[in-house]
Amino acid sequence: MTSVFEAPAAWRRERLAQMRAGRTLGFVPTMGALHEGHLSLVRRSRAENDLTLVSIFVNPTQFDDPADLAAYPRTLDEDLGMLRAEGTDFVIHPRETDLYPDGYRYRVTESPLSGVLEGAHRPGHFDGVLTVVLKLLQIASADRAYFGEKDWQQLILVRGMAEAFFLPTAIVACATVREADGLALSSRNRRLLPLDRKRAPRFHQALSSAATSDEACRELRAEGFEVDYVEDRDGRRLGAVRLGGVRLIDNVTLGDVQ
Ligand code: PAJ
Repeated sequence: MTSVFEAPAAWRRERLAQMRAGRTLGFVPTMGALHEGHLSLVRRSRAENDLTLVSIFVNPTQFDDPADLAAYPRTLDEDLGMLRAEGTDFVIHPRETDLYPDGYRYRVTESPLSGVLEGAHRPGHFDGVLTVVLKLLQIASADRAYFGEKDWQQLILVRGMAEAFFLPTAIVACATVREADGLALSSRNRRLLPLDRKRAPRFHQALSSAATSDEACRELRAEGFEVDYVEDRDGRRLGAVRLGGVRLIDNVTLGDVQ
């Protein structure tokens, strides 16, 4: 049985009762439009905790482009069906006013990592991410929270925030789930036109096989990708590209590059 909550206060009452009963909780924050990548986080949480909570909230403050926010897929009924099938115990899908009673007057800002890579191309993006993740972690009161390596920079920033603010929730990293052709699963993939979907796996291939980040960049541009960046940093190669207006991000460990 999956219980669905809207108001954070109702969830907090439920969580208090669980804590009194000594039950551990794993938390998976999402923006919905769920796919196997999200479900891999849910499965890991279910394996490591007594109970699992998933949040579904398309967070407006992390979208620097209003058109991207408007186009973001919203598939709540399907999402709930998938989460029920996985045996998820609890889902919370708060409204914007539930999470932002302050109208976003208070926010979490980090520097310098928030200003490079994704942050350089999406001003304010990580302020929005960190702020909503802090709110959600506070509401969830989980023992562990699960984040995908696909959003590497987000994972590192969330982990850093948890340490900086002494948050009691452990941040757990989960490997990127890919299609058979190597394309990282993403809610945005469903917006790719059929021809672009065919070309999209070249992004991961180029990141994995080019000798240098500049070479990966040149190869992708020559094949018609608009490249926002490809950069090597802290033992990883990270990239962001656009295909027909759909923005894709990915990263690989430099040890895997061959
Ligand atoms: P969203 O894009 O819905 O992703 C939710 C979680 O699923 C993130 O931790 C993300 O890294 C993970 N994920 C997405 N695709 C994945 C894949 N192919 N393999 C493994 N994990 C994958 O990331 C967000 O939402 C938001 O920024 C959020 C953290 C919810 C804050 O609003």
